[in-house]
Amino acid sequence: MTAFERTILVTGGAGFIGSNFIFGLERRRPEIRVIDLDLLTYAAHPQIWEAQKAMPGVVPVRGDICDTALVAPLLERFDVTGIIHFAAESHVDNSISNPQGFVRTNVLGTASLLTAAVRVWKKKGVLGSARFHHVSTDEVYGALGPEGFFVESTPYAPSSPYSASKASSDLLVRAFGRTYGLNYTISNCSNNFGPWQHAEKLIPTVIRKALAGEPVPIYGTGANVRDWLWVGDHCRAIESIFFDAAPGETFNVGGHGERGNLEMARSICALLDRLSPRPDGRPYAAQIAFVSDRPGHDFRYAIDPSKIERELGWRPGLTFEQALERTVRWYLGEGRALLSP
Ligand SMILES: NC(=O)c1ccc[n+]([C@@H]2O[C@H](COP(=O)([O-])OP(=O)(O)OC[C@H]3O[C@@H](n4cnc5c(N)ncnc54)[C@H](O)[C@@H]3O)[C@@H](O)[C@H]2O)c1
Repeated sequence: MTAFERTILVTGGAGFIGSNFIFGLERRRPEIRVIDLDLLTYAAHPQIWEAQKAMPGVVPVRGDICDTALVAPLLERFDVTGIIHFAAESHVDNSISNPQGFVRTNVLGTASLLTAAVRVWKKKGVLGSARFHHVSTDEVYGALGPEGFFVESTPYAPSSPYSASKASSDLLVRAFGRTYGLNYTISNCSNNFGPWQHAEKLIPTVIRKALAGEPVPIYGTGANVRDWLWVGDHCRAIESIFFDAAPGETFNVGGHGERGNLEMARSICALLDRLSPRPDGRPYAAQIAFVSDRPGHDFRYAIDPSKIERELGWRPGLTFEQALERTVRWYLGEGRALLSP
């Protein structure tokens, strides 16, 4: 039997970023045992869950982060001394149709985890040393105009029920630090892309619709700008913050990958033209079709990552172009058997 040095709880590890995080952590730090607590909602990947069952360093547990009566005994039983909290409802469009579901998972779920962590860690006398890392988003800062960047001190101004629920959860984490002495860190990251992103998100949608010969939907005029980051680089940033940052610190994570939505769709279509051309030889970009804009659609997000670069020496490992090609190849089926490229 393997002797593990430490056990951490990862929430939402069957989803997009959490699953990539666990694969990377297991490769880089096999001495750490991971409990993956996931409710297996529509956003989870059953294939990942099955793969995790066979991984010696991972214990997948199906359950709800809102269930404090489940979480506290789990922390005790496995002697958990760290939590990395990914689990959330994460799709902005769904938050517009079902805001309360987002408040339940993202706000009450985070409060439930924090409560369990403080209770158990205080009892075990590890409250100051065990760490809670909260995975958040740059969307808490609201929208930028054409100029400027989000820094860690940018005031919160969320626009959607999703970003408002994430902003609330960030504030709860900080309040648990001030009130109970919880040792926490927070990361606010820009838009991720890579393997295992749910089909409903922009990049998988563009690829899927293009390959199916269907219209590729783009909101409004496609001018909205997102700051894209390869998921593996986000995961390495979280690892470095969780293990190396001082308590109570927040880091913005981004790789200067700003692209307009239309520009992004055109880049993907160009890659598909090269890697998997249409039978009629026409460009996939001809399928791009504009649809009514999302209500409250933020114009631009852009991260200033200088704090994490300066203090933790983190840098993106892939250029935007390398990461996008890797992503498109993965959705075309290359490397899928490896689970994580
Ligand atoms: N995707 C991005 O571009 C991005 C960018 C920055 C930050 N984030 C944040 O990163 C985190 C992960 O995002 P993602 O894109 O991987 O999300 P995702 O929707 O792909 O995965 C979410 C996971 O959480 C699980 N989950 C949902 N509700 C749960 C509950 N009540 N209890 C236990 N598990 C539950 C789901 O089953 C799923 O496996 C989120 O907190 C999100 O706000 C995402």
